[in-house]
Amino acid sequence: MPKSLAIVGYGKMGQLIERLAPEAGFAVGLKLDIDTNVNQQGITPENFRGVDVAIEFSMPHVAVANLERLCAIGVPTVVGTTGWYDELERVRAFVERSSAGVVYSANYSIGVNVFRRVVAEAARLLAKEAEYGAWAWEVHHSAKKDAPSGTLLQLVEEMNRAGYTRQIDASSNRAGANPGTHEIGFDSAADTITLRHAARSREGFARGALKAAQWVIGKRGLHEFGEVIFAGDAKAMRRPADEVSSTGFSLCGFSCDQSNTTQAEACATGKVEHYWTTKVMRRQPCLQDSEDAARPWSRRSGTTCRWTKTLCGG
Ligand SMILES: NC(=O)c1ccc[n+]([C@@H]2O[C@H](COP(=O)([O-])OP(=O)(O)OC[C@H]3O[C@@H](n4cnc5c(N)ncnc54)[C@H](O)[C@@H]3O)[C@@H](O)[C@H]2O)c1
Repeated sequence: MPKSLAIVGYGKMGQLIERLAPEAGFAVGLKLDIDTNVNQQGITPENFRGVDVAIEFSMPHVAVANLERLCAIGVPTVVGTTGWYDELERVRAFVERSSAGVVYSANYSIGVNVFRRVVAEAARLLAKEAEYGAWAWEVHHSAKKDAPSGTLLQLVEEMNRAGYTRQIDASSNRAGANPGTHEIGFDSAADTITLRHAARSREGFARGALKAAQWVIGKRGLHEFGEVIFAGDAKAMRRPADEVSSTGFSLCGFSCDQSNTTQAEACATGKVEHYWTTKVMRRQPCLQDSEDAARPWSRRSGTTCRWTKTLCGG
């Protein structure tokens, strides 16, 4: 008998998940969108009676409130919405207080998750080979607003964590209908290594989210998608989690979550030339705005500590 699935956010991803749900063993029991879920009014025990799991693909400004309400009524949830990770620790706290399990990921493509590990391993192997420079590039459809993509930032972070600390030149393009291509390259006088992942459609994201939905039923706590697809593979699980969180996050020698280091102080070291803001995913030059630069990261709302590692170098 199929499990009952609730879809929260019935946009492009929600509709695709509805189409693919039957082949993953789900029947869609409830669909909520902006009109039926104003101020989370659609997320009630009555509406969710008989629902086994929810998949949430909505919008960054409502995702955390949706998730909090889903946890409060004990619904296991897979969240695909991006752009809320600066609240990850608050989310972790309310998930852990609830009886529901939650899976999150900025990218539910199984291929991208494997690609990230391949990239990290290449970066680890080339970390000490100084003649190899690296680049990171992505292209997406013209409607995608954030650039660089969260996935490209994660790839660069994984390279840094794997020990590749030299400059990684990163760039983005927005054109046409491309569902997402990410490329990492290493180049030396002798040769070039090019690693590329190209999504053909959004179906990979939807299928990955449905796989996570099957997995999360009966679990508790907050889980990253890697735990779903690499469970049982001890080597793969040793990779660092890909939390785009301010907590425990350290770049260029700064742990910016707990310290009250300001952008100005970080930039003054000369190790940091740019920073990313997660709200707009835009690279900002250091000290562009003195008032902003003087504010500790920990007090900046909507901004995750992300001094760019591409330019940390040195
Ligand atoms: N993690 C991944 O693999 C992955 C893949 C694709 C997209 N995404 C992300 O998923 C999100 C949704 O993507 P999309 O392409 O479906 O966007 P979309 O704009 O097509 O759909 C978003 C939907 O959310 C609805 N919505 C707004 N407020 C709501 C509320 N309070 N309750 C319920 N629904 C509400 C909107 O009406 C809209 O239908 C985005 O953040 C996108 O970046 C993630």
